[in-house]
Amino acid sequence: MNDRYTKTAILLHWLIALGIFTMFGLGWFMSELPKEALAQMSYDLFNMGIYTWDLAKEASPRAFYFNLHKSIGVTVLVFILLRVLWRIGHKPPELPAGIKAWESKLSKATHHFLYLLMFAMPLSGLVMAVSSKYGVKWFGTKLIPGINSETLRDVFHEVHEIVGITLILIIVLHIAGALKHKIIDKNDIMKRMLP
Ligand code: HEM
Ligand code: HEM
Repeated sequence: MNDRYTKTAILLHWLIALGIFTMFGLGWFMSELPKEALAQMSYDLFNMGIYTWDLAKEASPRAFYFNLHKSIGVTVLVFILLRVLWRIGHKPPELPAGIKAWESKLSKATHHFLYLLMFAMPLSGLVMAVSSKYGVKWFGTKLIPGINSETLRDVFHEVHEIVGITLILIIVLHIAGALKHKIIDKNDIMKRMLP
């Protein structure tokens, strides 16, 4: 019986969740960086003493972390696109008997909203970056040149922030739902998405 998610769905779910959490951390971290700082050739990633990244050309901390944010973001966007395409052709497993109608409705609505927001988040970032004078590079390779429109950049910066706050709220609701099933209802919903 088809009572759990497939390996592909599980792999994509956790890969994208990890990517999105990393992107939030990186986004907040990089926006705090000072605008005036010396360019460097090598970076101790997040100053954690774990991994040092040597660059071919020196870059300021803001430029380095902004480019990293865009590069990982474009990669996550590709995985999200794959996931949405894959999902269109595959129905999720039926919910087990005993789930109340309101729970089923709320979980379906949350999942649809999550798909919409997790797509809108990198897309708004991409449009913002293309509107700026810098454009988008993918780990050093030029991908899309910037069109240098300050108005468009400001609009999509705002969109990126609002979508971000909404996404966090929905992710919190989603995690609360998963934990409710595990801790309060003690059913197997959580297991459906675990390897
Ligand atoms: C960025 C974070 C996350 C996003 C964007 C996300 C997104 C989604 C989406 C869209 C689905 C529906 C899959 C489908 O039917 O096609 C789903 C299912 C699920 N997620 Fe997440 N998720 C995230 C994080 C988490 C976390 C941290 C947990 C656990 C605490 C979790 C637990 C689950 C479970 C258990 C399901 C299956 C629900 C069911 O069987 O109906 N997710 N997730
Ligand atoms: C899952 C994907 C993404 C997440 C969760 C995310 C999250 C964030 C967060 C939390 C910030 C800080 C917001 C603030 O200014 O307070 C930010 C800023 C930014 N993001 Fe993203 N982002 C994502 C994808 C992207 C992509 C794909 C691009 C471009 C290709 C991008 C470009 C930017 C830029 C340029 C800023 C800096 C705006 C500024 O301060 O001038 N983001 N992002």
